[in-house]
Amino acid sequence: MKAQAAERILIVDDEPDIALILKLHLEDAGYRTVCAQDGDQALAILAEEEFDLVLLDFRMPRMGGVEVLQRIRESGSDVAVIMMTAHGSENLAVECMKSGALDYFPKPFTLDDMLPRVARALAYRRAVREKQRLEEEKADFVSMLSHDLKNPITAVVGSIDIVREGRLGPVNAEQAEYLQSAIDSCNEVVAMIDNLLDIHRFEAGRMQMNIRDHNPADIVKAVADKFARVAEHEQIKLSLDLGRELPLVAVDRTALTRVIANLLANAVKFTPEGGEIVLSCRRTRDCDAQRSVIPPYARIPGGFAAQRCLVRLSVRDTGNGIPSEELGNIFERFVQARGTSVRERGGAGLGLAYCKMAVEGMGGVIWAASEIGKGSEFIALLPCQGEAGAC
Ligand SMILES: Nc1ncnc2c1ncn2[C@@H]1O[C@H](COP(=O)(O)OP(=O)(O)O)[C@@H](O)[C@H]1O
Ligand SMILES: [Mg+2]
Repeated sequence: MKAQAAERILIVDDEPDIALILKLHLEDAGYRTVCAQDGDQALAILAEEEFDLVLLDFRMPRMGGVEVLQRIRESGSDVAVIMMTAHGSENLAVECMKSGALDYFPKPFTLDDMLPRVARALAYRRAVREKQRLEEEKADFVSMLSHDLKNPITAVVGSIDIVREGRLGPVNAEQAEYLQSAIDSCNEVVAMIDNLLDIHRFEAGRMQMNIRDHNPADIVKAVADKFARVAEHEQIKLSLDLGRELPLVAVDRTALTRVIANLLANAVKFTPEGGEIVLSCRRTRDCDAQRSVIPPYARIPGGFAAQRCLVRLSVRDTGNGIPSEELGNIFERFVQARGTSVRERGGAGLGLAYCKMAVEGMGGVIWAASEIGKGSEFIALLPCQGEAGAC
């Protein structure tokens, strides 16, 4: 392996002969090196200059290699470190690795052993750096999406709405309809951005759920109301099937609202004119029977198996259905099933990925059942408030 142009190695060894041999070999191999005679000097140099790798002697007077390594890590530096010692033992190697060394080689070393280890440690560090860079880029992109893209779209919706409401002069029915469809399209983009942002938050472990007890009927009715006009416009019958005396569910209201909205948006998108959608919310009569039909791809959160009270929320449509072999995949990010789109309405394949993360984040389970040509049903089982009331 050839050394990268600017890679710098700090050699820390109290024995000048060994330090010199290392220096000569590493410089021959194309690396740039600096030598330090002890831990104090090494730390002082590291505080001033950037290095890619430190070759650190284990046994040195005053401050041993492990202490130097600990101090390097305490300073926040992520420089790669390889330990060298004349007293090779596995325990010692474990101690070094635990303190944050990448590798370890015994002295006296052979060139055939030392140079590949140095190259490997440097390649690993480059890969880690590249990953960090990509993560930072992704975070920048996501925050760009939220501020620079979402805010102007929200402003566009506000402006169009003012015109549509006739506040700036008379608007006829046809004009109002076009303006409404512009608003709907903008809202679709906003929903897509919200899905992407929340998926990113879930993946980064930064999604904060505000789980409280809510009456599921209130949430379900509010979302259904929002979709009534869209369904009517698409000439689809949207009906509600609410159980009586629903127990409270322990959920994040915003997340559950968005889960239902995503499922309804899909149902509307994939159901042809004249079709029907039923949004249902009922207490399950038999939790074990419900649990027994959960397919293997649905991840079951801890504590779910012990739940004695579940609410079954479902969105059923009379669309074209989804091939059975795709049912598990469609909950993955950016996955869209083949041949399901009855209207070329686009989408990014993020809605169901969000639904899965959100429902599982609330301690529930979500999956889909479908029959080609007949329709699909998306089912979520949600845990009820505390342990109150068995099914
Ligand atoms: N109700 C449904 N009927 C048929 N196919 C569906 C339905 N809901 C979801 N799908 C399939 O699952 C895919 C993923 O859905 P989703 O994650 O919401 O992404 P998107 O709506 O952006 O395509 C869809 O592209 C479609 O292939
Ligand atoms: Mg969708």
